Amino acid sequence: MKHVIIKGIGSHVPDCVLSNADLEGMVDTTNEWIITRTGIESRRICLDTEMTSDLCHEAALKALENANISVCDVDLIIVATVTPDMQFPSTACIVQRKLGCVDIPCFDISVACSGFVYAIDVARNFLLNNLVMKNILVIGADKFSSIVDWEDRSTCVLFGDGAGAVVLSRDNTNDDSEPGILDVLIGADGRRTQMLYCLGWGTMAPTESEKVGKRERFVKMEGREVFKEAIKRMCAVMEDILLRNKLTIEDIDCVIPHQANMRIISAIAERIGVPEEKMFINLQHMGNTSAASIPIAIDEAVQVGRIQSGDLILVVSFGAGITWGASLIRWK
Ligand code: UT7
Repeated sequence: MKHVIIKGIGSHVPDCVLSNADLEGMVDTTNEWIITRTGIESRRICLDTEMTSDLCHEAALKALENANISVCDVDLIIVATVTPDMQFPSTACIVQRKLGCVDIPCFDISVACSGFVYAIDVARNFLLNNLVMKNILVIGADKFSSIVDWEDRSTCVLFGDGAGAVVLSRDNTNDDSEPGILDVLIGADGRRTQMLYCLGWGTMAPTESEKVGKRERFVKMEGREVFKEAIKRMCAVMEDILLRNKLTIEDIDCVIPHQANMRIISAIAERIGVPEEKMFINLQHMGNTSAASIPIAIDEAVQVGRIQSGDLILVVSFGAGITWGASLIRWK
């Protein structure tokens, strides 16, 4: 089978830093609680005037530059987000307008924190089966600050805003030692939707919004249940993808886990036996950026030299749905 490679990568986060000290002035919390329970020290938050599509646009420009291709060479745009600029049209269409590449197809996918892993699987299948397409722009982006309840201390301390983008391209090699996306494995358990959800403006949301209050529409989470399920599912999908590729964790150079909570990442590392130096963590200064978490982390790991050319990386995600996914990528 032909390969799909990550030709370029880029990310963008807003300038505004929200520290734990800032949160101490907003809700009944402490810097100590947030650090010991989550590992998060600060996160980036959009201004009211910064939209998800703006984050996507900036990340996409960097990815295109890194891939050394023009926006005219993009054949499809997929945006993974649960915080679109508006209910419709898709954020991908708005990003297309901002990039100035009209007529190519564009769509969003809604898979919460697993969105990026799902999106690269969708894009990979497009490239392998539609030989007209050569380059696909895949963006994971979320502006969770627009949907969290800033009066709910159990959720508002966790999330940050950002976007990460990659250009995926078809490559003619069929050798697994060459750069490329070697495998993707995705899954979901729809019986667990109540664990983490946001009614927003969905059809289940109360219509008399003024009566029930806007807070009904914000993110709701059963933290402890999500915590347990995240560890269970991420461990299982890592083991499955390694097994079906006849690999062990020793073959992996860098693991990029979804950046939700330091304790979740430590538990996974312990269960799977990932040495600390192989686990990339940037949630200290990013918080949980949902669909952007993995591409931002990959980009940062490359920039700081934690991912080198030829490295085998394992990314693993978990999110609302509940959903999960993993991918094996040989870095370019
Ligand atoms: O991308 C996937 C999305 N989400 C996740 O992965 C999050 C998964 N869950 C978690 O990361 C953790 O469950 C949390 C960080 C959300 C909470 O940590 P926990 O250790 O599970 O705490 P808890 O919910 O059991 O709460 C312990 C205590 C409670 O007080 P009482 O009932 O023991 O008196 C909470 O009210 O901590 C309290 N608490 C806080 N205290 C200070 C909850 N949030 C805060 C806070 N500051 N921000």
